[in-house]
Amino acid sequence: MSDPVLAIETSCDETAAAVVDGRRILSNVVASQAELHSVYGGVVPEVAARHHLTTVNAVVDQALADAGLTLADISRIAVTRRPGLIGALLVGVATAKSLAYATGKDLVMVDHLHGHIAATWLEPVALDPPFVALTASGGHTRLDLVENYAAPVLLGQTLDDAAGEAIDKGARLLGIPYPGGPGLEALAREGDAGAFDFPVGLKGRGPSADFSYAGVKTALLYAVRELGEEGTTARRADLAASYQEAIVRPLADKLMRAADTHGVPAVSIGGGVAANGRLRELVTEGAADRGLQLAIPDRALCTDNAAMIAAAAAFTPIIAWPDFVGEDAIATAPPGGIAA
Ligand code: KG4
Ligand code: ZN
Repeated sequence: MSDPVLAIETSCDETAAAVVDGRRILSNVVASQAELHSVYGGVVPEVAARHHLTTVNAVVDQALADAGLTLADISRIAVTRRPGLIGALLVGVATAKSLAYATGKDLVMVDHLHGHIAATWLEPVALDPPFVALTASGGHTRLDLVENYAAPVLLGQTLDDAAGEAIDKGARLLGIPYPGGPGLEALAREGDAGAFDFPVGLKGRGPSADFSYAGVKTALLYAVRELGEEGTTARRADLAASYQEAIVRPLADKLMRAADTHGVPAVSIGGGVAANGRLRELVTEGAADRGLQLAIPDRALCTDNAAMIAAAAAFTPIIAWPDFVGEDAIATAPPGGIAA
């Protein structure tokens, strides 16, 4: 039976809409604002919100057109409610509420992190629990035990910076424009990952599932200062490779350790940093060594998108028309977890 969901995501700097029917993606449109923010070296919340406002309707129209559907064919509407930039979130939430209200449809308000984890539910990956999920993005770095897509259980998270945040800040130090991930990865491919011994966060802390990236960021800053401008330019690729390694290796190692601890048959990676080729290589090796199934969604489903929001919506309570009228966007994540 056809049950298409229209999902909208505007929590940060991508304006995204998608149509998903069950586990099947019918369309997935992402209008990135990255270029707009790169002149500032990072996302400017007010600029993001204003741009979402001018783009969101066109992105929704495109998602419907790509799916070959009209709003009348849609069963219900899903939207990212939290966490994120409040002005940016509000644009998506107001758009989704208006569309749902005007068309008499129910609304599902989704947690963005739940979306990153639920991306693996979609075809062609279509992973079924139990598994351990690594989510590493610009705002979050965490491990969850997923025995049921409706309620991932937090195993560990970053105690300071997110992995993507550390990547973007490090890239900036090396003169790579925002967002630094793809540029850092390209530069790292030409360098030696063993050239600099950057510290791995929480290394001496035994089997903790938590992460820390403040130390490695500072270590890169000191290395760049010590090398000076000329020295840094000469060693840029080695710096990038060593820095990338210090960030992605603990992600892979702790994912594998959590899989061992919880005895699951599968692991997954998601979030923008999961687009990283070196991380993909390390988790592929780790999973093969242990005979684990590895689920890696397509890059377009790792970075922010609305298809993943539709996926999480399948495991989030539906708010019946018109009870959602008083519902709001929320900037923060709930303590320790993911909001249902
Ligand atoms: O999930 P995402 O698109 O947005 C957030 O929810 O934050 O993640 C964005 C992060 C940025 O820090 C970006 O630099 C990083 O993902 N990223 C990468 C790569 N592509 C994106 N990091 C490393 N290597 C990449 N290829
Ligand atoms: Zn994200």
